[in-house]
Amino acid sequence: MTESLSFVTMKEAIRTIVWKDASVVLLDQRALPLEERYLVCKDYREVIAAIKNLAIRGAPAIGVAAAMGIALGMLSVGDDSYQEVARQFDDICSQFAASRPTARNLFWAIERMRSRFSESSEELTGGPGRAAGQNGSSERTGHGENGLLRIQESLISEAVRIGDEDIEINIRLGQNGRGLIPNGARVLTHCNAGALATAGYGTALGVIRAAWSEGKKIHVYADETRPVLQGARITIWELMRDGIPCTLITDSMAAFLMKLKKVDLVIVGADRIAANGDTANKIGTYNLAVLAHAHRLPFYIAAPVSTIDVSLADGSMIPIEERDHTEVARCGGMQTAPAGVSIWNPAFDVTPSELITAIITEKGVIRPPFDAGIRTFY
Ligand code: MRU
Repeated sequence: MTESLSFVTMKEAIRTIVWKDASVVLLDQRALPLEERYLVCKDYREVIAAIKNLAIRGAPAIGVAAAMGIALGMLSVGDDSYQEVARQFDDICSQFAASRPTARNLFWAIERMRSRFSESSEELTGGPGRAAGQNGSSERTGHGENGLLRIQESLISEAVRIGDEDIEINIRLGQNGRGLIPNGARVLTHCNAGALATAGYGTALGVIRAAWSEGKKIHVYADETRPVLQGARITIWELMRDGIPCTLITDSMAAFLMKLKKVDLVIVGADRIAANGDTANKIGTYNLAVLAHAHRLPFYIAAPVSTIDVSLADGSMIPIEERDHTEVARCGGMQTAPAGVSIWNPAFDVTPSELITAIITEKGVIRPPFDAGIRTFY
């Protein structure tokens, strides 16, 4: 359902996603910059669809959406045996896990919801041995304070906490990174790692916001970010809304911009960071890292620790989503390539850690060698 909701349209701060009256309300990013409209999801499957169709996008925002979506899904579970409630919970989690493959934050958020579910089930059943469904208990959870209701409330508060914490994390990350942006800096960014890619404030744009709010003069160049145009449609919208000076360029202009010495540093977000620092982010990020290296410019990644996946030794193991070919074959609703053309549309690429100057997190700035730094912060 699409609605215009004044409570979310606070001018001061963009709030990407909120839990409200047993529904998940999110700013529909497909409509930006032309329209600020909100999707009110009353069924968890609408949240899954919103993640898949990019109504909500950006790694941390996807994680928050999944957490809230799981809590929403559990509202429609009937009072049944612990085993059955646990089976339905597991099924809902698996559906969210299949929504988009690359963003680590999605799986991190699902793991947090799974832990909360286990804890609240254990509280109800009196120990891990009798946790919901874990040893095949067929007792009913029972409604009310001591039953399913308590599990549901506990999942809702965990999901809301994940969203609130995300904003706090981004603010800390911004404080940690702002010193890397000199006064007068011209900064190039790619895709959208702003308030809309998170629960609020942003990662790469969070660092820019933090530097801007301490009075530094900054100018941001944003790549338009083909094929979905997150830079043109969303990053520029956010920057203009905050009054931060910005210029839109097409992706192919970055090299010339650097050659003309119109940019001092590059800062982008991340979807997944491997244990050695290799970083998956929006397709085209790797191009910028190579260009920054060739022009001796610093190249920064800004991401919360929840984006780091220490189970993957390097970036070659990061699953890369391939999206619908129509994203490339069409632009602005118009067919821009011959019908039937062969298309390759990976949504992300992997930047090797050798090209990264530093990774800015809420726990501090990690410098090479990244594997050692990541181990310290993780
Ligand atoms: O396909 P998207 O729009 O979800 O891709 C988003 C990005 O690549 C962002 O740069 C990344 O998630 C970091 S968001 C803080």
